[in-house]
Amino acid sequence: MSNYGEHTMSRLLCKQDYEEQVASTRDRRMQWWRDARFGMFIHYGLYSQMGRNEWVMAMENIPIEEYEKLADTFNPKPGAPREWAALAKRAGMKYMVMTTRHHEGFSLWDSKANPYNSVNLGPKRDIVREFVDACREYGLGVGFYSSLMDWHHPDGWRCAFDTEARRRFNRYIRELNTELLTQYGKIDVLWYDVAQPMQSWEGWDSLELNQHMRSLQPDIILNNRNHLLEDLGTPEGHVTAEDRDWEACMTFNDISWGYVDSRQAAPYSYTPQRIIKMLSTCASGGGNLLLNIGPTPDGSVPEEAVQPLSAVGDWLKENGRAVYGKLVRNKGWTNRPFGGNGVAEATSDGKSVFIWNWIWPTGGSMALGGYRNAPRAVRLLKDGTPLDFELVGHRLVLKNLPRTPPDTNAGITVIELEFDGPPQYLMASYYPQLHGGRDITGGVRR
Ligand code: GLC
Repeated sequence: MSNYGEHTMSRLLCKQDYEEQVASTRDRRMQWWRDARFGMFIHYGLYSQMGRNEWVMAMENIPIEEYEKLADTFNPKPGAPREWAALAKRAGMKYMVMTTRHHEGFSLWDSKANPYNSVNLGPKRDIVREFVDACREYGLGVGFYSSLMDWHHPDGWRCAFDTEARRRFNRYIRELNTELLTQYGKIDVLWYDVAQPMQSWEGWDSLELNQHMRSLQPDIILNNRNHLLEDLGTPEGHVTAEDRDWEACMTFNDISWGYVDSRQAAPYSYTPQRIIKMLSTCASGGGNLLLNIGPTPDGSVPEEAVQPLSAVGDWLKENGRAVYGKLVRNKGWTNRPFGGNGVAEATSDGKSVFIWNWIWPTGGSMALGGYRNAPRAVRLLKDGTPLDFELVGHRLVLKNLPRTPPDTNAGITVIELEFDGPPQYLMASYYPQLHGGRDITGGVRR
């Protein structure tokens, strides 16, 4: 590997120029990702054998020498990454992000920079290679999670105060990520994590590192976890919209990213309904959902994830138009451009509004307040079944509805309101209390 200063300063951009340059290519680089909406996060490593969270080494103060022994018993079954990809595909996910090396410092690939890896030890296999091949086989985008913090490398802590150690460690991080972005063909996402102990992008030489990464993979998407804003925000453990591209990363059980006992985790694990609800927040808020699985010690998908993800996949087959692709951000609250009602969320592609109903009315009708012009057609999204409707003032009333929810996958029915142009909508327009006392009904309130 050439010396550290490979990039001569003349080619290296200052922060402002760099961020402007990256911003100028963002729409082109990220359109597939924005349309994709839904990805699978995979946390797999030596910690999976212990089933006590991916932070077990640190949280239980396990000495390095003792922890290293896990490498000898690490033995993913043949075809494990293919099983992950098959489930992701089944679930309607469009890309995957796998932990190539987590905080424990063990690399799951054929690394020259890091001999503590799965080719030298344990399975003697390049798991990253198998993962990339599986992604390609199933037509899924390829993402690499790459930890910055390292509990195994001696410079991983000295770098906090020792300049030489910091130089060595940043070089190490650069070499690891260079291997990842040069040994496996086109990579779509590089997902950094936990920039500790240095607290700044200068401390991590992130500006130079990221420019180097982009020179290796010009279309790559970088997250915001080495103290630079880069391409996307990464809210964790909560699905909260941001005013730019964002991706909520969620465990499957709110306990651990790494594998924990399936039987005990099951009661904490997401149902199809909870996952679809998170997807609705992402789809209406201009973000993505990166939902995690923690494969078992032998690399099998955790059983508690299979049924919910399969049901979500079946649901997305019927309702994908309300989720994937270019959708309008439903910004604001009382000034949002379209809406559902108290038991329904809404997304829109600019022409149609998709009503995601959580609680189906048993009385045969449903009212959506705030619509001031009538749609040209109303139908079930899943199969196009037309629904009767009437606009009464600013109330769009759907009538003669079946008594039970038409959706059989999760009981979440999506109704398409197809308009000729953008819908004319003002949430709760009959209640000036919500609009600063302004009565905009023009007397139509009945
Ligand atoms: C946090 C956790 C880390 C996990 C990551 C996923 O940073 O510390 O273990 O991999 O979140 O987003």
